[in-house]
Amino acid sequence: MRVSIAKGGLPRVRVDLVAVPVLSDEDPRGEAKKLIRRLGRPLQREMERSGFTGEEGQSLAYQSEGKNWVFLGLGKRADLTTEAWRRFGYRSARSAADRGAEKLACYLPIDEADSVTLPVAEGVRLASYRFDRYKSEKEKSKKKELGELVMVGPTLKADREDDGRWRKLEVVAKAVFLARDLVNEPASFTTPTRLAEQAKALAKEGLAVEVWDKRRLAAEKFNGTLAVSRGSSEEPRFIKLTYRPPAKAAKGERGARLKKVALVGKGITFDSGGLSLKPAKSMETMKTDMAGAAAVLGVMSAVAKLRPMVEVTGYVPAAENLPGGGAQKPGDVITFLNGKSVEVLNTDAEGRLILADALCYASRAKPDVLVDLATLTGACMVALGVEVAGIMGNDQALIDRLIALGREAGEPLWQLPLVKDYREDIKGTIADIKNVGSGYGGTITAGLFLQEFVDCPSWAHLDIAGPAFVEKDFVWASKGGTGFGVRTLVRFIEELGQGG
Ligand code: BES
Ligand code: MN
Ligand code: ZN
Repeated sequence: MRVSIAKGGLPRVRVDLVAVPVLSDEDPRGEAKKLIRRLGRPLQREMERSGFTGEEGQSLAYQSEGKNWVFLGLGKRADLTTEAWRRFGYRSARSAADRGAEKLACYLPIDEADSVTLPVAEGVRLASYRFDRYKSEKEKSKKKELGELVMVGPTLKADREDDGRWRKLEVVAKAVFLARDLVNEPASFTTPTRLAEQAKALAKEGLAVEVWDKRRLAAEKFNGTLAVSRGSSEEPRFIKLTYRPPAKAAKGERGARLKKVALVGKGITFDSGGLSLKPAKSMETMKTDMAGAAAVLGVMSAVAKLRPMVEVTGYVPAAENLPGGGAQKPGDVITFLNGKSVEVLNTDAEGRLILADALCYASRAKPDVLVDLATLTGACMVALGVEVAGIMGNDQALIDRLIALGREAGEPLWQLPLVKDYREDIKGTIADIKNVGSGYGGTITAGLFLQEFVDCPSWAHLDIAGPAFVEKDFVWASKGGTGFGVRTLVRFIEELGQGG
């Protein structure tokens, strides 16, 4: 998608559709109202008839002056956030797709237009995603792809072609789409082996990639990943991706030491529950259980292109959780790399078992920051719904930063407490710990379980079970994998790279 800022103003723009944001408390002498007046009485009558007042979510299509217009309500001026502009972008792109438009203009008749072009363009770009590999040709051709976005407004400054904003936007969008693709592909396609191949493909982008097979996992005593994968004929894998900043620059002018970030992503390519089998309904979407891994691969792909001044390592334990003849059994005991033993009472609490391997291993490299992402608990969806991820950890400053960046990125995070007393709930009988609690506070006990394997003073755990996958179209994502987490973490890494 080509993005540009039009020089000549609205009359000169030749596009298939012009999207115009309208506030519910629009200044009567402002540019938006001026445009509406200019377009004439029929438009104003149409607005009155349909009750279009600029409330959030309202839209009105109109034809005049040889143009197709869509007016989109954004609500009150005081409520306008970055996310509101991104949503204006999403909705503009949806309107364009519904009308088969290939060229879209967003008219931004506001004073601060320069500060919203980025979120608007990001919204448009993210909404252009489609996963139709498996659709027949007939179905596919229904909607045209958006080829061009033009932004135009009375206060907009002409594009500074070289500031890299649109390039960065494209890099991040591609990273999000990679994560979405990996999730949307059926589980029989995105196997642990396939995930590893995808990671190897990223080596070309300038990452060091290491993949461990089953034998190596056994040699390294990755007993959680091995135990979970035993019920499946798909072999497990462990993937390690490393990005190192350019050597010359790495010394830094201020002689500052380079920071090291470790990312860990849950890569259960299909979660049947194992012998603690899930009911059919709960299994329908369980190809999404590698969304944490997909997000880590997405972030790494973006980092390779953006080349920030931070060392970043992505760790992905990947396995399929099936109830085959070799499957681990409830009551089995696993001993982990840090010496702790775990009684597996429920084989459906498998994510924490593969993450325990990866967290122990990642901790050994002594990263400054350790962040894991996992579709870990249904309980998190009960608590926060499908639009918000849970965040827990041992470093409040890190959690606060991620929450703030998530808000900016439109990926809301909400903190849950790692209540110390609940540690009792996962005490083992014949082993140190058990892999499930009594049932209440399931997201927190899962977090406490992970903490047992973290040896890093700055750790955050993101439970993305809700927002990683949506079962209906939302304003901010269409049905399926969302790539949740990619945009927040890319922002976080870039910020660290700037010495923040
Ligand atoms: N992958 C699931 C969690 C999940 C549920 C993700 C729904 C996305 C949507 C996880 O492995 C799981 O099965 N968790 C169990 C834990 C329980 C056995 C303690 C759960 O949430 O029921
Ligand atoms: Mn499970
Ligand atoms: Zn799972």
